[in-house]
Amino acid sequence: MKTLRLLDLVKPEVLSLTAYRAEERRPDLVKLDANESPFPLPEELRQELRYALDQVAVHRYPDPKEDRLRSVLAVQLQVAPGALVLGNGSDELIQLLLLATSGPGTTILAPVPTFSMYELIARAQGLRFEGVPLGSRFELDMPRLIETIERRNPKVIFLATPNNPTGGVLSEAEMCKILAVAPGLVVVDEAYGPYAGRTMLPHLVDQERLVILSSLSKIGLAGLRIGYLVAHPALTAELEKVRLPFNLNAFSQVAAAVLLNHQEWIDASVREVVRERTRVMDRLVALPGVEPFPSAANFILFRTTLPGNDVFEAVLGQGVLVRNLGSVPGLQNCLRVTVGTDAENDRFLDALTKALR
Ligand SMILES: Cc1ncc(COP(=O)(O)O)c(C=O)c1O
Repeated sequence: MKTLRLLDLVKPEVLSLTAYRAEERRPDLVKLDANESPFPLPEELRQELRYALDQVAVHRYPDPKEDRLRSVLAVQLQVAPGALVLGNGSDELIQLLLLATSGPGTTILAPVPTFSMYELIARAQGLRFEGVPLGSRFELDMPRLIETIERRNPKVIFLATPNNPTGGVLSEAEMCKILAVAPGLVVVDEAYGPYAGRTMLPHLVDQERLVILSSLSKIGLAGLRIGYLVAHPALTAELEKVRLPFNLNAFSQVAAAVLLNHQEWIDASVREVVRERTRVMDRLVALPGVEPFPSAANFILFRTTLPGNDVFEAVLGQGVLVRNLGSVPGLQNCLRVTVGTDAENDRFLDALTKALR
């Protein structure tokens, strides 16, 4: 019997991919590359968390239905518990959605540039990914989008709003227009929604093909790996069939349930970041050699007149890590900076100013 070469055993779709790149931890750097919240838990919450985690029975599997966390989320979002699916990060839910809905020959569509995992997960599953380019200032090209939807008949459309990495938002009217022409699901990814202060959740009542995706990662709980989606219960029941049992570990379930009951801490962190976003944006606008793009998220995308790679390295050399997006089509010489604490933002602004001299 003929044996295959090792890499012939891997699907060509996977061989052609490039892995998602996340930076290693570097405590010596000001970390402004991953759109995390800059605020650690305050001591009172750490204490409450310690107590709650101490009760976790690690010799048992976690609650398979995530009842406690599910009901905390359902109350906060004012949706039925059955309208929710919880994931190990919203990444997992993107994978789950495509696994449950889309087979060979199916097209998945998104305006681009956008969050890279939509394409990576689609292609890994052997699906076609169609990116519809945004305009020169990253605005939506609605006629082109509609034309592509009609031509490609996508099973799933991903709309990140605010969009990563551009920071731009779609209006409700734009999303309703897309819902009206889309033949399949429209997934509105609101991972950064709290920073924009808006949501499409109220539209779920009359739009059964609308799916809202969200995450706790960007509002201070990235280490827990918890995402959720809200959709019509008939759809969530099907998604539950392909969700792996016990996908949310017991510590994360408990920690999220405890911390979500401190919405005042989350809201205050978001408000502080939004305040700092305005200050950083004002400084970037005034800085020669930099073109920042409007952002409703907790990060700002900007283009540099000098080569982006050089600016990235010069900023890094001063101890500040941002995201270099120069190799993404349409983002030549573009860097993305997460809004940090005021001290971190000052470090970044100083480093950037020096890098541009
Ligand atoms: C738009 C968007 N959606 C989803 C995610 C995934 O978030 P997580 O898997 O941490 O919930 C990210 C992460 O960067 C993102 O930018």
